[in-house]
Amino acid sequence: MPFLRADQGFKLDTQKELDIEFARDQFPGLSGDWTFFDNAGGTQILSRVVDRLNDFLFNMNVQTGGSYDLSKKAAAALWSGREAMMHLLNANRPEEIAFAASTTVALQNLARGMASQFSSGDEVIVTVSDHESNIGPWIGLESLGVKVRTWLVDKDTLELRLDDLQALMTDRTRLVAVTYVSNILGTINPIADIAKIVHENGALICVDAVAFAPHRAVDVAALDVDYLAISLYKVFGPHFAVLYGKYDLFAELDNLYHYFYDKDKVPAKLEPGNASYELAYSATGIVDYLVELAERAGHSGTTRQKIEFTFRQIAEHENRLAELFLAYLRSRSDCRVIGFDDGNDSRRVPTISFVIKGCDPGEIARKIDTFNIAVRFGDFHARRLIEYLDLADGNGCVRVSMTHYNTQAEVESLIAALDAALTS
Ligand SMILES: Cc1ncc(COP(=O)(O)O)c(C=O)c1O
Repeated sequence: MPFLRADQGFKLDTQKELDIEFARDQFPGLSGDWTFFDNAGGTQILSRVVDRLNDFLFNMNVQTGGSYDLSKKAAAALWSGREAMMHLLNANRPEEIAFAASTTVALQNLARGMASQFSSGDEVIVTVSDHESNIGPWIGLESLGVKVRTWLVDKDTLELRLDDLQALMTDRTRLVAVTYVSNILGTINPIADIAKIVHENGALICVDAVAFAPHRAVDVAALDVDYLAISLYKVFGPHFAVLYGKYDLFAELDNLYHYFYDKDKVPAKLEPGNASYELAYSATGIVDYLVELAERAGHSGTTRQKIEFTFRQIAEHENRLAELFLAYLRSRSDCRVIGFDDGNDSRRVPTISFVIKGCDPGEIARKIDTFNIAVRFGDFHARRLIEYLDLADGNGCVRVSMTHYNTQAEVESLIAALDAALTS
């Protein structure tokens, strides 16, 4: 599918709401008898993504780089995956998209690729609220003499405060690693403001956008971030991940591939052993879906404009669902929401964590399981946050994570199940 660049086409906004029935039809996994509220763990996959996966494997399954036509076709399919992700993130060019098996691997690769940029005594800032994927690789740099400082959340509001970041920055700070949205709190961090502070201090920023990308349009250009990662299995796609990096910064990274891959071979030098062609190609289905949702709502414009339009519709729908559930939680005097408790607050996504006084989160989740409703409890690999909030001894918290294909009726059945779980 040819993509329009942002300077082509035109925009026509409409007031139509997200077509949930159409959206749900695109996910075969939704036709079973489960209700999914563990979407921050992983969403259901689009049928068109699986169709593309099959198409590649059945019709183009050869090695790229050959002189023959089919090999060129396979290379073009891989490239179309990079182009699709360029639109999804609003990157400048497909070379700014490197694929990896997961975000965990992508960020480990990045830390390895940056290693020669650090000297003993340099400093890196990580947050207490990140998933371990965006903490562990940076702590690993301590073996090079790098000092790691931790940016804590405010204990009352659970927000990362910009003042606290300023106070942590020194003339030795080289990198700030921060999450766009905590996968527990659901709070959207002000990444553009953070990036500004980081750059004013001469450092780089690496953003984990995994918990943001299914809910809002990521815009690396507007944010002016240096590196950013997303996991596609949480954005309606397969187990695969994208590492975005500004082209010049990618070019500076150490080569992770064979010695004869030179520094200019971007992004291949960051994809040792090659990215999965079929998964990369399948990812074009994600963008195709977001674009089709916009078109069905009467929106015409560039690929990017359609993506942004669809995410605005998604946000409206998700906020309504989140508020329905949060209103129930607020009505309970025994409930503590771990994060902002207003579903209409533009600073949150519908990833909602909570604890109920005197109740084990594991027991609550297991009771909800019996209704064929999938929620999750624990620390969600954001162990440092759970420890900081003193929840580590009690099975962490319960997390209800919604996505746009959830319905009001599903939230109502979740509330009924939770109510039953807490009274039984
Ligand atoms: C916020 C966040 N970051 C990173 C990850 C790790 O992603 P992956 O499983 O692709 O390594 C997760 C997974 O749950 C996550 O929620």
